[in-house]
Amino acid sequence: MPARVATVAFRGIETLEVDVQVHVGGGGWPGIYVVGLPDKAVGESRERVHAALSALGLAIPQKRIVVNLAPADLPKEGSHFDLAIALAILLALGALSIEDLADRVVMGELALDGRITPVAGVLPAAIAAAGAGRRGLICPEACGPEARWADALEVIAAPDLLSLLNHLRGIQVLPEPPRANAGPEPRYPDLRDIKGQETTKRALEVAAAGSHSLLMVGPPGAGKSMMAARLPGLLPALTPAEALETSMIRSVAGELKGGRIDRARPFRSPHHSSSMPALIGGGSRAKPGEVSLAHRGVLFLDELAEFPRPVLDALRQPIETGEAVIARANHHVTYPARFQLIAAMNPCRCGHLADPSRGCGRAPRCAQDYQSRLSGPLLDRFDLTVSVPAVLAADLSLPPPAEGTVEVAARIAAARALQVDRYRRLDPAGTTLTNAEADGEILAAVAEPDPAGLDLLRLAAERLKLSARGYHRVLRVARTLADLDRSETVTRIHIAEALGYRTGAS
Ligand SMILES: Nc1ncnc2c1ncn2[C@@H]1O[C@H](COP(=O)(O)OP(=O)(O)OP(=O)(O)O)[C@@H](O)[C@H]1O
Ligand SMILES: [Mg+2]
Repeated sequence: MPARVATVAFRGIETLEVDVQVHVGGGGWPGIYVVGLPDKAVGESRERVHAALSALGLAIPQKRIVVNLAPADLPKEGSHFDLAIALAILLALGALSIEDLADRVVMGELALDGRITPVAGVLPAAIAAAGAGRRGLICPEACGPEARWADALEVIAAPDLLSLLNHLRGIQVLPEPPRANAGPEPRYPDLRDIKGQETTKRALEVAAAGSHSLLMVGPPGAGKSMMAARLPGLLPALTPAEALETSMIRSVAGELKGGRIDRARPFRSPHHSSSMPALIGGGSRAKPGEVSLAHRGVLFLDELAEFPRPVLDALRQPIETGEAVIARANHHVTYPARFQLIAAMNPCRCGHLADPSRGCGRAPRCAQDYQSRLSGPLLDRFDLTVSVPAVLAADLSLPPPAEGTVEVAARIAAARALQVDRYRRLDPAGTTLTNAEADGEILAAVAEPDPAGLDLLRLAAERLKLSARGYHRVLRVARTLADLDRSETVTRIHIAEALGYRTGAS
């Protein structure tokens, strides 16, 4: 019978159990052979395992050692298989007993000197192991605090192979890792710093209240980036379930620093030189991209028109479906990507289109060229588009506005609470959490305008040649405006304001 050790493979953030089976002996050349659809990193693990076992002073017999990763048709990616392979070989060679490893899931990368180095995905693996009723998890020392978030799971977090073996054999006791503390309360800049710009501030409030996508277009120095930096402070904290979900994505991406689970909503602002895999996901090893790291939070794309066009077009699918699908050699990987898109750009290359005294001689051609970098379908996906005018010097010398982040965040929290209540009633499955996500029958039921509002919407839809998507987006924004007003029904006033944001005329 072959020696067997349990480890995991990932499909997105879903964890699948993998059985590492080792058989020693039989005919053929001596050496370690890994089979069962390993990728390059897994295939190379035989070299690391060999070196790490030699570093222990263990003489590896001159026999054929076959390592099978079952199920054999499931592609295996990553370097976290090393430790399970090493332990399965030690089991097969009789250096460990089955009782030593009983019912534990193993993951970790090995350095050539036998150290166990950190790996991605320990949090989802630990939670899946606990869910499957496993007794424990063996992982790298640095990942212990992350694994401890799983309830009722014994965590063995080892710095190196030797101390792990001594612990398993009962010669030495490794300390139980502490559960990672939540991070300190983040501090965000205050909305009170922004002078003037009342329309944009209102749009930011509406966007935050309904989780709507927002595009800000305006000249340099108008305060667009400044405004976006104040959005995280306006958003309500994640619920515990959401915090766990976003942390699992960060864990799979190898970004869960110190194993801390934060309640602050993700705010990701990738640079416009970011590559397609960095933004959408993928790469040599499948990894969540920025769109997934922004799940349940904000993806802020500053200087939107500077992003390469293929990258922008690749955003269209996750925006619509809430998922990023990444093609691999012979399968697809799906990561959740339900984010709020906030973008900022200048109206043209010089940025001063609206100001004849400063605009360049190529206007309006230069604006057309610049804006045509964004495809129509992408622009159609913004719920709110505002033009941000240059700040007047007179505005800058005004005293700070009466309302700051605290006051506006309170209104947003109230509007969000109404949505939580409403969608818990209408969509018990929990796919709709905010107005921006309401669709189909649910949207028709919650955003039905009063007769005057409906007349206005019909008229405007014809005049503005609204797409079906545009029509529904106006309804969603109008629902949020009604929520901010604490109004049961969507009225003409709400439709009128929502239409203003559709055209960017406000
Ligand atoms: N409304 C405002 N109130 C107070 N200060 C402002 C305002 N707008 C801009 N500023 C000042 O101008 C600086 C630049 O603003 P910001 O970087 O947000 O401009 P921007 O619109 O993003 O410009 P660009 O298009 O060049 O990126 C801010 O750091 C701030 O000091
Ligand atoms: Mg800017």
